[in-house]
Amino acid sequence: MRKLSEQEIERIVSLLREGRPLPEDYKAILFDTRKEYELVYAGKEREEDILADTMAVPLQKVKTFRNGNSSNGWTNMLIFGDNLQVLKTLLQMKQEGKLKNADGTPGVRLVYIDPPFATKQEFRGSQDQKAYQDKIAGARFLEFLRKRLVFLRELLSEDGSIYVHLDWKKGHYVKVLMDEVFGEKNFQNEVTWYYPNKIPDKRKPMFTSAADMILFYAKNDGNQLFVPQYYAVPPHKRAREIKINGIKQSLKDEKGNVIHQVYDKRLVDCVWTIPSLAGTSGEQIGYPTQKPEALLDRIIKASSNPGDLVLDCFAGSGTTLAVAEKLGRRWIGVDCGKLAIYTMQKRLLNITESKDLEDPQKEKKYGKSCKPFTLYNAGLYDYKMIKELPFEQYRDFALKLFQCRDERHEIAKIELDGYLGADSVLVFNYQKHKNAVLDKGYIDDLHKYLGDRIGRRFFIIAPAASVQFLEDYIEKGKTKYFILRIPYSIIEEIHNRGFTKIKQPVSEMDVNDTVDAVGFDFIQVPTVECKYFIDDKKGQWELGRSSKECVIKIEKFESRVISRKPLEFANLETLSMVMLDYDFDGEVFDLDEVFYAEDLKKNDYEVRFAKDNVKGQIMIIYIDIFGNEKRETKTLADFNGKRKK
Ligand SMILES: C[S@@+](CC[C@H](N)C(=O)[O-])C[C@H]1O[C@@H](n2cnc3c(N)ncnc32)[C@H](O)[C@@H]1O
Repeated sequence: MRKLSEQEIERIVSLLREGRPLPEDYKAILFDTRKEYELVYAGKEREEDILADTMAVPLQKVKTFRNGNSSNGWTNMLIFGDNLQVLKTLLQMKQEGKLKNADGTPGVRLVYIDPPFATKQEFRGSQDQKAYQDKIAGARFLEFLRKRLVFLRELLSEDGSIYVHLDWKKGHYVKVLMDEVFGEKNFQNEVTWYYPNKIPDKRKPMFTSAADMILFYAKNDGNQLFVPQYYAVPPHKRAREIKINGIKQSLKDEKGNVIHQVYDKRLVDCVWTIPSLAGTSGEQIGYPTQKPEALLDRIIKASSNPGDLVLDCFAGSGTTLAVAEKLGRRWIGVDCGKLAIYTMQKRLLNITESKDLEDPQKEKKYGKSCKPFTLYNAGLYDYKMIKELPFEQYRDFALKLFQCRDERHEIAKIELDGYLGADSVLVFNYQKHKNAVLDKGYIDDLHKYLGDRIGRRFFIIAPAASVQFLEDYIEKGKTKYFILRIPYSIIEEIHNRGFTKIKQPVSEMDVNDTVDAVGFDFIQVPTVECKYFIDDKKGQWELGRSSKECVIKIEKFESRVISRKPLEFANLETLSMVMLDYDFDGEVFDLDEVFYAEDLKKNDYEVRFAKDNVKGQIMIIYIDIFGNEKRETKTLADFNGKRKK
């Protein structure tokens, strides 16, 4: 868009004041005029609204691993939460100058995402109804992704690139959306990732799909960083290639004779032949949609420099982060699945060949463990940790949680902390007034001082436990005094839409579901009751090889969800999965095995594992579908219960 001069702005304003029409010429400048063509579907929002209406969620530090000196004030970030809200938070960080590449350019240099493909759906009814449902799900998926793409564009540095990994079912719709969001001229290429090891699908004899597509865009065509990639041509293929492609280079030797030298390295084209991960591959960590490191190696080397920021906000098992780490890039990873988070935590901590960021020139500086990274919660918070923060940090978190501007000001000698829209906000200092409570008398007093100097709304953020009444607001004269409670979820009058909780999978099939969570919540540790005993290994008894198994029989599992409307769940209904670390070191949970609720259900909710697996103490994490955890440690001696018949 062309910028208007001051003169023009004045002219337009005066025309508007006089109620006169604006000249046609301004149409293209003032309005986002229609594109020549675009993808139309129900529920497509304006980009401006997406950017403005998405709420940012504060990042709560959970733990920094590999404590030590992080390079120049930066520590890599692993974030648990819905990525849309997290992207808004990251965008604020970019605007505050906190996201910079190695050369100081603001933003992230490279984004790679491998979003869920939104294919699984349950249907009842006719084929027509199914087709219709499919369309609705398709439109929803596209808008889900488009919203994230809009933020990713804003987050990229001016010379950055984005790679979006898709399959043949939805890929071409997304291409059209990417053209809209990033501009068709910034489209670089469609990479075909061909995996020759795909086993032909007998149910689909017409050309088994053995490729994914990866759409590659620059933020600004011609301005992006791109390091050409080569691959080695195996010697036995060379002769043929020369014949077909004429890949020959004429050189002169010292005596001036022409010699023909064959390239043993060739520029990588847009078809990448890289096997998909086999079950037996050393890289395999058992995460359902894990991608090979070779794929990310190529992308990261092509479109970033050592020390640059690489972002993957559908991080899954952490392939992007692990490769970025090994190549000396800095990284940010986001995922809304607990399984993904623990998988990544383990994967990163087990890296032994991380490249030294301080010395990126020395290509071969391997043999190093991964650099420090911090795990954050975004949207699902630990209230105990918040309460224990020093007041200044608590205040900062509280203001961010309710999207308030941090701006101290004074009205009638009362110190206030910020604004929500145009209205003042007070963060109740429960630490200073140890015994003070926030009751109706407190509001009366405030109103005596402030009453005629404030507008229709006034906000007080306070710990729920300090508030002595149940109403969302108290009305005094023309002003409503709203109470924003921590921990609490939502006030319908000010949050213009309902919150939806983050959702955890209950089976392996669900791991790749799209999750669209809005708002924030506080961790509520579920109630878990189990019997622990030793049993003969199932199915082995008949063979006479009676090896022993530990059994955790879950008898009771209940989530405690704070909600306006009471939510009723049956026993065990909200269980998502159980994760085990067989040799817990007393500090870091190191995921060894996961049991999905749907599998446990078929097995009477018995978690069974070989007795021999247990080394010292084990850590068990029970997770509910909202992402809440209950943790416990046990030793073999605890498995002393009796099996109930
Ligand atoms: C296809 S997997 C990514 C796999 C990854 N490329 C790898 O190599 O392991 C997609 C991931 O997106 C996550 N996801 C889905 N919706 C999300 C959301 N709204 N925010 C953050 N992560 C999300 C899922 O939990 C899943 O782990």
